[in-house]
Amino acid sequence: MDNGSAPPCVVLEAVKLVKRFGTDSPPAVDGVSLTVSRGEILSIVGPNGAGKSTLIQILLGLLVPDSGQVRIFGVDVTQNRRRIAHRINYASTDLSLPFSLTVQENLQVFSLLYDLPDRKRAVSEMLEELDLGPLSSFRVGRLSTGQIARLGLAKALLTRPEVLFLDEPTATLDPEVAQEIRILLKERVKRDRMGLVYTSHNMREVERLSDRILLLESGETVATGTASELCARFGANDLETVFIKSMEHARLNRG
Ligand SMILES: Nc1ncnc2c1ncn2[C@@H]1O[C@H](COP(=O)(O)OP(=O)(O)OP(=O)(O)O)[C@@H](O)[C@H]1O
Ligand SMILES: [Mg+2]
Repeated sequence: MDNGSAPPCVVLEAVKLVKRFGTDSPPAVDGVSLTVSRGEILSIVGPNGAGKSTLIQILLGLLVPDSGQVRIFGVDVTQNRRRIAHRINYASTDLSLPFSLTVQENLQVFSLLYDLPDRKRAVSEMLEELDLGPLSSFRVGRLSTGQIARLGLAKALLTRPEVLFLDEPTATLDPEVAQEIRILLKERVKRDRMGLVYTSHNMREVERLSDRILLLESGETVATGTASELCARFGANDLETVFIKSMEHARLNRG
């Protein structure tokens, strides 16, 4: 969250987003509104198929919603994605990176594409921060799943984004690396006052990392709040119990 008494500076605002993939199918995202401020971590949590990845794609401007609006830095993402593209970034488990290039070449290519100043330094910093130095000359094709995820994160952080979207960033990482990544992300959020939107099925992680949590079920917002607010609301001691209770509650309400 914002430090001191300064009012929160909203960098991302989504209003009543709706997205259907077919006229006969129920909406994948159904009336979701949210905000993210500088220096804030918002976690989107929900069961498989709840609409988390779809929502992230819409927030990024990669999917156009049927209705609703996304503004980043006050700019409509659907209309003006190019104006803000260099200030945001994204990583997900299924991000495909050029397989025949080495780890270092991958980051060099992205630093060129993004036209970064002091590219050499930016690349070596990321190699070090994500402990990719020993893998720098390995082709992506011979990396493990977790190593590719780390490279995806390096690519996403390389540009020092002001708003970062991560879809299950730690899903394929071993516990030790996952912990290092959580520390790194938290540090970036605080140091650079980056806004972070991320998804995870690891409730302990969500509890530790998030400033706010949005619970999503069948495309609809079930509840939002801090971990302790949600625990109080659902009479639970931990977020895993909140998850189970809130999803039951949402399904019952829908009949
Ligand atoms: N390209 C697509 N075409 C058709 N339907 C889609 C498409 N992408 C997603 N869906 C549907 O939209 C719904 C939400 O999917 P989404 O991938 O957003 O869920 P999720 O919450 O990210 O799930 P998971 O936890 O498994 O990653 C699902 O019912 C899915 O089948
Ligand atoms: Mg998903």
